[in-house]
Amino acid sequence: MSDGERPAGISRRRVLAGGAAAGGLVATGALAGGLPAGAQAANGSGQGVDGAAVEPFHGARQAGVATTPQAHAAFAGLDLRKGVGREALGRLMRLLTDDARRLTQGRGALADTEPELAALPARLTVTFGFGPGLFRAAGVKGGPGQLPRFSVDRLEDRWSEGDLLLQICCDDPVTLAHALRMIVKDTASFTKVRWVQRGFRQAVQRPGLTQRNLMGQLDGTVNPKPGTPEFERAVWIADGPLAGGTMLVLRRIRMLMDSWDATDRVAKEFTVGRRLDNGAPLSGRAEHDEADFAKVNAIGFPVISEYAHIRRAHTQDPGLRMFRRVYNYDEEDTGLLFAAYQADVARQFTPVQRRLAKADLLNEWTTPIGSAVFYIPPGCEESGWVGQGLLG
Ligand code: HEM
Repeated sequence: MSDGERPAGISRRRVLAGGAAAGGLVATGALAGGLPAGAQAANGSGQGVDGAAVEPFHGARQAGVATTPQAHAAFAGLDLRKGVGREALGRLMRLLTDDARRLTQGRGALADTEPELAALPARLTVTFGFGPGLFRAAGVKGGPGQLPRFSVDRLEDRWSEGDLLLQICCDDPVTLAHALRMIVKDTASFTKVRWVQRGFRQAVQRPGLTQRNLMGQLDGTVNPKPGTPEFERAVWIADGPLAGGTMLVLRRIRMLMDSWDATDRVAKEFTVGRRLDNGAPLSGRAEHDEADFAKVNAIGFPVISEYAHIRRAHTQDPGLRMFRRVYNYDEEDTGLLFAAYQADVARQFTPVQRRLAKADLLNEWTTPIGSAVFYIPPGCEESGWVGQGLLG
């Protein structure tokens, strides 16, 4: 509104002050940096972003898997340059471990050109992953296999595969961008960037509800819970040379939002098998009620369709479920960075994706356009580096 259009006698300041008061912002403290009433930080703290918050870097497992998801993520897939073998990979991983150790604790990387940008770590985690090509280059057996082809896939090279993964998550997007740039800089003589996929989650959500994806659904309800024996069994590899690590399947899944928008709520809920408002299964009342797949309606049809997403994706044994830690994206198109961690891809992700590809009502509105699998090696202690067990 230009000054010429404003009703006579109302100053710019009064318009602004009135607007804020009408929106309830002053009353709820949002202008003072708090959150609107009834919302809480998605990390459950009830506070806004805590810039000083630090996630531990050292430990038996790498951070960034069981870590409560931060609001922002960047996944970078790198290709190894020709001639980079085991010895060079060892040097690279020593260097990158040092960067990650410093940056996640709020210190600049060794040759940091802007160390001030590292000062507020905001729960920064840096997680490294090794693709099949890295295992080959290092002459190490095992590692992630290729996924089978699924009939729904429309995969594009520019979002697929890669030898080395950097998964960088943070509650602050500037800290994240800086960490990504510093680490990628240090990889330059060993690797070329193949793709970078950025994602975000709700930074705030109403108390007690799981975060929502861009289709508006609560996403992450039935998921192994970090700290439980089921999580331990489902996610971490128990024995063999890869013990202590996990396998990440990263899929870039486009959402066809125009036709989703044109679909009515009843059909949307029928498709997933859950309500949109509170995420409850159609057979129940509250988000965490167990879905009753046997329940039928008055005329004998299943309340949760045979082809509903949650029925097709359901795995009975909690220790065989994958752990989904997804992010949204909305650059070029809209969709989900579907990140799922598990001890055994062939037993956990693949059978579910096969069932979904065969018949899942959601397929009408979703298309996988990228796909990569990485082994996430164990974490390290102060004197060690990530990948030492395989490459050292
Ligand atoms: C854009 C694509 C997708 C969307 C929008 C989506 C959305 C959802 C929603 C809303 C739920 C119900 C709430 C929850 O438990 O989290 C759900 C459940 C689930 N999804 Fe997806 N999903 C997608 C792709 C996939 C893929 C590719 C897989 C695996 C191959 C998968 C596996 C699962 C599993 C295992 C569950 C829990 C099922 C249960 O036991 O109740 N989803 N998804």
